[in-house]
Amino acid sequence: MKSDIIFHQLFEAQTSTYTYIIADKKTKEAAIIDPVIETVERDLKLIKELGLKLIYILDTHIHADHITGAGEIRKLTNAKTAVGAEANIPCIDIPLDDGHELFLGDKKITVIATPGHTNTCSTFFFEGMAFTGDALLIRGCGRTDFQQGSSEKLFESVHGKIFKFSDDTIVYPGHDYNGQTVSTIELEKKFNPRLCETQTKAGFSKFMSELKLAHPKKIHEAVPANMTCGIVPSKHIFHPQVVDGIPVVSCENLYSHMSDIISKSALLIDVRRSDEFNAELGHIENSKLITLGPDLTQFLKDGDRQQEIIFICRSGNRSGQAATEAMQLGYKNVINMSGGMLRWNDLKQPKIKK
Ligand SMILES: [Fe+2]
Repeated sequence: MKSDIIFHQLFEAQTSTYTYIIADKKTKEAAIIDPVIETVERDLKLIKELGLKLIYILDTHIHADHITGAGEIRKLTNAKTAVGAEANIPCIDIPLDDGHELFLGDKKITVIATPGHTNTCSTFFFEGMAFTGDALLIRGCGRTDFQQGSSEKLFESVHGKIFKFSDDTIVYPGHDYNGQTVSTIELEKKFNPRLCETQTKAGFSKFMSELKLAHPKKIHEAVPANMTCGIVPSKHIFHPQVVDGIPVVSCENLYSHMSDIISKSALLIDVRRSDEFNAELGHIENSKLITLGPDLTQFLKDGDRQQEIIFICRSGNRSGQAATEAMQLGYKNVINMSGGMLRWNDLKQPKIKK
């Protein structure tokens, strides 16, 4: 390690992600590579303790397994976010192309486009170190079966670009699942079982096509969030009070948020019987009838656990049971409309009846 730079390798255990802090010792200008939203506070504390001035927040690619801390760190530091231009992310300050150069003092970070794991992957080269993201892991590599991944492209990126660095270049990967922290180009050329020097493109593609990996747990959450630099606007309309373990919203509050309910695609589910739905008490416009019992259970079993659902019934009792059932099935954003259609009618709020 050169004496005129500062370097820290940090780890996020839930997704086995490495975050790196690199800096020029003289000017204290720093960059953070691949921050994770859950560990932003830890990383910023270290940056402060080291007396660094954060200039860049770099992501090696659009991650599928975790949410980037980039947007959150930018808010707190005014550093600039940067990721591969291919990602086409409007919130990014600096879209990175192959050969792009960024400076920390007089020290250069060179961006090398290394697509294959995704189409936006970059490797950052800085002072004898290669931050390879998921293009090259220690004795492994990132998967190539989603986010425009391509085993052919990854092979070309690793053999045609990363392996062209000098043998003593230190390799710092985006993840490690086996407790390893660092490698070198020489070691990976010799011992990487997927991508070593003697591997062929066809052999690598065959190996990758046979992996059959499960999708990362957070992919549906992480990829959209990372397209907005990790800043996730709250999708949920209500921040309900919890009564007897069940989140509740009043009829008045629900009524005043009708346009949000429609625009944010929250679901109003009326759990009464169909004869009640159309009888004197009527039902709320845009509510969907799914009767408590087998119909509702089946619906909930098949549904998206992040969906915001407001349950409605006659008095708030059955809808409370529905909310409880949904929570037991893992729903995170379910609410009971307190007082039910009786209260709704008392307030003379609009209803539909046949
Ligand atoms: Fe990745």
